[in-house]
Amino acid sequence: MYQRRHVPSPRALAKSYRFLRLPLTLDVGPIVAEIEAANIDWLPSQWKWHLGTSFCILRGGQERGWPGSRLTSGGGIDAPALAPLPRLRELLDTAFPARPVSAWLGLSPPDSRIHLHVDNTPHWDEHHRFHVPLITTPAARLCVAGRFLHLPAGTAWAFNNSVPHGAENLGPPRIHLMVDLPPTPEVEALVAAGTAEDGAKDPEAMARLSRDPMESIPEGMKSDAYLLWRLAQQ
Ligand SMILES: [Fe+2]
Repeated sequence: MYQRRHVPSPRALAKSYRFLRLPLTLDVGPIVAEIEAANIDWLPSQWKWHLGTSFCILRGGQERGWPGSRLTSGGGIDAPALAPLPRLRELLDTAFPARPVSAWLGLSPPDSRIHLHVDNTPHWDEHHRFHVPLITTPAARLCVAGRFLHLPAGTAWAFNNSVPHGAENLGPPRIHLMVDLPPTPEVEALVAAGTAEDGAKDPEAMARLSRDPMESIPEGMKSDAYLLWRLAQQ
């Protein structure tokens, strides 16, 4: 992987799965309608392994001087982008057994990929990462530890972000909701009730996700010296 070495937090959660389907029923139709009617301000990825994808921060920590910094900690502070999305805010506040401390939308355009990496902050080590696919097709798959799986819209998953992972979308635009949850007893009980799915091998897709992500830096980013410096630190 093209990533600096990560020393996990001493309080890192043990995640002994790739994908865990959670017994949560979510009505995402109204959420999708709300997102489609909103003028979402998509931010190009600020992490090199996500180049070519975009995100919209809904909740997180304090802004620390660079776009995306709210997601590296978990302050539970609603971002301005959540204000015009009341259904989504209600889902964040009611759908999970604890209040997510960080949340964002991830947009993967057609023919985009997230190269292999591990999530490398103490915050990410110490929280559970859930995915809720909102708009997707079977051509959009996530990868964890060498296996690929499509997550259908309206389902909810615990996703192991502490081992090498990535994504590929060969279909139309795909949008997932991602949340980070603290390991409260209620959250741990939900995770324990999940059903593990391993996914499938795909050597050709693995080869694509294993390439140096800086090969695919968009032309428009090459003149942003501060962004290039940050990407090089990752
Ligand atoms: Fe990640």
